[in-house]
Amino acid sequence: MITLGIEGTAHTLGVGIVDDNANVLANVLDMYKPASGGLHPREAANHHSNVVSKLIEEAIVNAKVDLKDVDVVAFSKGPGLGPCLRVAATASRSLSLLLNKPIVGVNHCIAHVEIGRATTRCVDPMLLYVSGGNTQVIAFSNKKYRIFGETLDIGIGNMFDKLGRELGLGYYAGPTIEKLAGKGTKLLELPYSVKGMDVSFSGIMTAALNLRKRGHCLEDIAFSVQEICFGMLAEVSERAMAHLNKNEILLGGGVAQNTHLRDMVQKMAEERGARVYVPDKKLCVDNGAMIAWLGSLMYSSGVRMRIEDTAIVQKFRTDDVDVTWRS
Ligand code: FE2
Repeated sequence: MITLGIEGTAHTLGVGIVDDNANVLANVLDMYKPASGGLHPREAANHHSNVVSKLIEEAIVNAKVDLKDVDVVAFSKGPGLGPCLRVAATASRSLSLLLNKPIVGVNHCIAHVEIGRATTRCVDPMLLYVSGGNTQVIAFSNKKYRIFGETLDIGIGNMFDKLGRELGLGYYAGPTIEKLAGKGTKLLELPYSVKGMDVSFSGIMTAALNLRKRGHCLEDIAFSVQEICFGMLAEVSERAMAHLNKNEILLGGGVAQNTHLRDMVQKMAEERGARVYVPDKKLCVDNGAMIAWLGSLMYSSGVRMRIEDTAIVQKFRTDDVDVTWRS
């Protein structure tokens, strides 16, 4: 069975093709980069509609299949930015109707877990999902993927981007902040914002900007922001793992590329006798292959959707999904 998946929750429009053994036959993407300022949902959506046809064609060529070989069309139903989600949904509906093939709308966060499970061979992990739009600790428990901790305001990647923009580091500032942090030496005072099992980042950003106004160097600010934020995430992850008795931790989302975060999570896991898994970069960031793979799992386990069922859900919660493909 060949499944084509279209991802379009935020800045990335991705098209992936997988078979029913989770072999990724194609995985192409195009990321919207704002000319100035932050990510504007409608401009990102315009970008997505400009590139979606080209990317579908590219994926078909890369996968060495014919469009008529596609058995199922999957798309990111949510959570995400409305205008972006609508582009992926509309393209998928058109393709499904054109090919007369079934359509399955999937939860983007669960797609990160499932592509990680399939490609890193972890079995029952706790996912630390760290991206621009999302920061969540997710695990399978009692027939659903449940959120055991999450940000109360903005995603950690969004905080890095906003902070980077204010500090003149350009947009998508995570890699620049990581580089600067590597040269920082002094841990400056920032609010350690863990509230129960949840975290928050906007206060840290404000405090970091105030440190800059007080004359601290970018390197020490970046170093301190990383230490505090990653420490918070490691703490919440560790408590969730202890609570759920999980011994695997999977990283997902764009911020999972950060090597210092990986090191901190690795140390925490080693102390617990747990293992850390990280998918390949192209499967860690937002991508169409993970959407295709979750669509494939759902369809194979009997999930069917009519076109009327494919409305997007901007605040799609992971525990709204019945996990029919896992026992
Ligand atoms: Fe994501």
